Amino acid sequence: MKKNVLSARKCLQAVVPYQPGKPIEEVQRELGLKDVIKLASNENPLGPSAKAMRAAEKAVAAAAMYPDGSCYRLRHALAKFYDWNPEGIILGSGSNELLLLLGQAFLNPGDEVLTSQMSFAVYPAVAQLAEARFVATPMREFTFDLKALSKAVTDRTKIIFIANPNNPTGTMVSPTELEKFVRRVPASCLLVLDEAYYEYTDPLWRPDSLSWVLRQPNVAVLRTFSKAYGLAGMRVGYGLVSPEVAHAVERVRAPFNVNHIAQEAAMAALADSLHVKRSVALARREREWLTVHLGKYGFEAVPSQTNFVFANVPRGTGQTWFAELMKHGVIIRPMPGPYVRITLGTRDQNERLIEAIKAIQNSSFNV
Ligand SMILES: Cc1ncc(COP(=O)(O)O)c(C=O)c1O
Repeated sequence: MKKNVLSARKCLQAVVPYQPGKPIEEVQRELGLKDVIKLASNENPLGPSAKAMRAAEKAVAAAAMYPDGSCYRLRHALAKFYDWNPEGIILGSGSNELLLLLGQAFLNPGDEVLTSQMSFAVYPAVAQLAEARFVATPMREFTFDLKALSKAVTDRTKIIFIANPNNPTGTMVSPTELEKFVRRVPASCLLVLDEAYYEYTDPLWRPDSLSWVLRQPNVAVLRTFSKAYGLAGMRVGYGLVSPEVAHAVERVRAPFNVNHIAQEAAMAALADSLHVKRSVALARREREWLTVHLGKYGFEAVPSQTNFVFANVPRGTGQTWFAELMKHGVIIRPMPGPYVRITLGTRDQNERLIEAIKAIQNSSFNV
């Protein structure tokens, strides 16, 4: 007789739970360290804008009420900011939720989800949760290879994810190459341009992605308040999409997916362009400084357009460097093989990282 046991959906067997950066408190507890810094989750070292903090504090007073499920005011603030139809804006608990919602809204079992290897860890889960096939083409020089991606498109391809800039490598694709790629995407396939790090990029490398959404309703652009706006803990991401895509997402979205405090903080953050400017300037300055100083200790950083750098370690593996740096109170993100990903901190934090690397290099420990 068949045993009556509870089993989760079969497709979950393939899903690897998302591994967040190691929390500061966990390292303090485990290693008995007091002073720990985290350069592991691409957060903004300047924190949120003071205006966003004040808006959040004020919003707590309404915590007994359900939030505005349609995010009316935030949606209209974004519409004004981008000169965009409010009907073509989707909001989520981080752009992470939007990635999952797009999967739920568009994928049928057996469809294909196409992206590149060494890209954002959530993309495979989007496919697996929908019983779709995950297809990832190799990178070229740590960058999405659009030719390889083009060749891998089949009539089963339903969603293509392009992280531009890419996480974890920090690279961008050329805007002209991307435009050619976008024009060739079949109308039946949703192309998601994941632009979580958009604000940090060199303006000359920025694609004209919003005009492509207007031209092709199967193109979606995702951005977030988690990075340059410094609100990762509030969880607000948004998509600039066609009304067709927005209507589909509306059907799978939980009723109050962005809370009231987050909505108010995001609105205030959007209006504080000076804070974004400062955050971007800090990242640009520290990117140069850290690249040079990492180089002195044999770490080769891939040129980045983001608030983090991806680097090849001089010996050992990413994992061994992660473990050693943790003993010095510095949390970075290990990557498979000889790679690490390091979020750009303040100058003090980055100097602390370099000091720790120096100490490890000078120690007898064989990393
Ligand atoms: C490429 C990319 N997309 C999406 C996200 C999700 O960000 P959030 O959910 O905080 O908006 C991240 C976060 O690190 C990312 O790197």
